[in-house]
Amino acid sequence: MIQPVISGTGVFTPTQTITNAELVEAFNAYADKQNAKNADAIAAGEAEPIGHSSEEFIVSASGIHQRYVMDKSGVLNPDIMHPTLRERSDDEPGIMTEMGVDACKKALAQAGREASEVDLVICAASNHERAYPAIAIEIQQALGAGGFAFDMNVACSSATFGIQAAADMIRSGSVKRALVVNPEICSAHLEWRDRDCHFIFGDVATATLIERKEDAKGDHFEILSTRCLTQFSNNIRNNNGFLRRTRESGSDLPDRRDMQFMQNGRKVFKEVLPIVSKHILDHIDDIDVTPDDLKRLWLHQANKTMNDFIGKKVLGRTPEEGEQPNILQDYANTSSAGSIIAFSKFSDDLAPGDTGVICSFGAGYSVGSVVVRRA
Ligand code: COA
Repeated sequence: MIQPVISGTGVFTPTQTITNAELVEAFNAYADKQNAKNADAIAAGEAEPIGHSSEEFIVSASGIHQRYVMDKSGVLNPDIMHPTLRERSDDEPGIMTEMGVDACKKALAQAGREASEVDLVICAASNHERAYPAIAIEIQQALGAGGFAFDMNVACSSATFGIQAAADMIRSGSVKRALVVNPEICSAHLEWRDRDCHFIFGDVATATLIERKEDAKGDHFEILSTRCLTQFSNNIRNNNGFLRRTRESGSDLPDRRDMQFMQNGRKVFKEVLPIVSKHILDHIDDIDVTPDDLKRLWLHQANKTMNDFIGKKVLGRTPEEGEQPNILQDYANTSSAGSIIAFSKFSDDLAPGDTGVICSFGAGYSVGSVVVRRA
């Protein structure tokens, strides 16, 4: 049987950061302005004032200290409160393509491969810059890769579902070498004016090179098994689809809250934890890997308490330092890319034979796990 392996990963990190202090200052300035504007309605009891955000709350509720973004000036301007990214003409590379290509080049360099040797590019992300032509095909062309390319979206689980798709194609022999790319511009789907979630997301791009074991030139991780699961839930939702204009009258579309990321965070927290823990335990059990065999968990990066809980449930004890690395304190939630950043930055020290699980979870609900072993 053909054995697929991960032979390279790459992370593109934007140059701009927003600290919690900067974020809270901008949000509170926005809240004060809105409250002043609505002072009469608030005094008459017809409108609720917007409460201030706080750094202490953000750190204790999420574990996030800062986030990287593609544009901080718009986000931190109380009169704008969203990234201002220049729209690209049809003749220029898209923003997701630029981010994705950078991550892909790093993954290729780590694997000692040329882009021309790649025959599948999957752009797996929570949001895509346009409907078509596919971002993946633009990345394929920008890199000079061969074969074929397509976009897919499984929200926060896009990367692991993409890895399963690529690994299955390598196993079947339909492709030889695949790049799974996750350019996530989460700052553009986040409602920065909503105190309950304005601290959650950041931007990044990751790429994973998957090829046949017999072709791998250097260090690599064998993909022992992959497993995906979905279960419908409205608790994380974004209604911004292509039918939007057909549902609205006139050209000035109202500023509808449900056209950005929305979640019932408490419910997500409560409902997703048991699904993920059971998913990982069932998956490893089916392939005769025990929790004691797991040297590392590279989990989706949304919330520190959530990850602590999953780590404890899966290992049957509190994870030791380094067993379940978090990057969310620096990157925040970067949707599908989070577990791949953790894998990319915290896997070099594993010894041959060491086994670990990459696991993502999120909207859908969706859960994807990839069990890997250092060769
Ligand atoms: N600053 C200060 N206070 C805030 C605040 C902020 N930025 N945001 C909310 N609060 C307040 C709330 O109004 C609430 O006040 P109340 O008790 O008086 O009503 C209180 O803090 C608790 O808010 P809550 O939203 O219940 O917080 P939480 O402890 O559930 O944490 C999340 C919020 C989102 C961090 C947490 O629910 C979470 O991480 N959930 C899972 C998210 C996830 O994985 N999503 C997947 C996305 S892909």
